[in-house]
Amino acid sequence: MNDTIKHQLEHRTYREFTGEKIPEDTMNTLFEVANRTATSVGVQSFSIIRVTDPEIRKEIAEVCHQEYVARAPELLIFISDCYRNREIAKEQGIDTPVAKGIDRFFQGVSDAVLAAQNMTNAIESLGMGAVYLGSILNDPERIIELLHLPELTFPVLGLGFGYPNQEPLLKPRMPFELKVFENEYQVLPSYMEALKEYDEEMMEYYDLRDSNRRRDTFTHQVLVRFEQVIEKRTEMLRVVKKQGFDLNVGE
Ligand SMILES: Cc1cc2nc3c(=O)[nH]c(=O)nc-3n(C[C@H](O)[C@H](O)[C@H](O)COP(=O)(O)O)c2cc1C
Repeated sequence: MNDTIKHQLEHRTYREFTGEKIPEDTMNTLFEVANRTATSVGVQSFSIIRVTDPEIRKEIAEVCHQEYVARAPELLIFISDCYRNREIAKEQGIDTPVAKGIDRFFQGVSDAVLAAQNMTNAIESLGMGAVYLGSILNDPERIIELLHLPELTFPVLGLGFGYPNQEPLLKPRMPFELKVFENEYQVLPSYMEALKEYDEEMMEYYDLRDSNRRRDTFTHQVLVRFEQVIEKRTEMLRVVKKQGFDLNVGE
């Protein structure tokens, strides 16, 4: 097994970091990695905002309901960016509704997500740790406002990272055989039955870990997540439309 795969199989989320600053040349390397990532049809529909202003960080941490967000040595927000390409077309005299359609929107989202994961692999390979912040979507409108995001952009994911100040346990995953199929999707007669052993493993994990120790299982967590409705997240489509996207274009 090579070092890349070893690091990938050791992946865990880190949420607490030492105060050690990440050297600027390392940051530039990480930005090069993000920039080198595969990109849908080659049009590079993502941008990254490096948030260094403590006031903005504080506000973002409030949206996330996670105070450690403000403390992470580095905080990046990955943006689905269809604005830049619309402007490039406009400067050439073309203003087409395709620029705001569903296809472009998802291209921007997948570009942003892949760049984030590519960068995360690099971060982990350098002995650092990272936490994704889907919680920026607790209030996407506030994030848009804070970062002055223009139309045809949308914040997809945050990423906090630095040198770890904790040693979290590896969080178990269900066996990949439950997620990887050959040729066609396999529907199981009972997922609760198929996940029995995994639930036991997760129970042990929750019981052993340092923070938020509890008795819990994977299948129960699935339920909890369905029960937790964050109101502003239910308005995501409205905000996407407010940003100028028209997801009916392309039908
Ligand atoms: C899209 C995405 C969004 C996430 N958002 C958050 C978040 O807002 N806050 C957080 O603490 N962890 C977040 N995580 C981390 C997950 O909770 C974590 O990956 C998962 O529990 C598995 O744990 P592990 O990464 O340690 O294996 C996110 C992960 C992903 C992939």
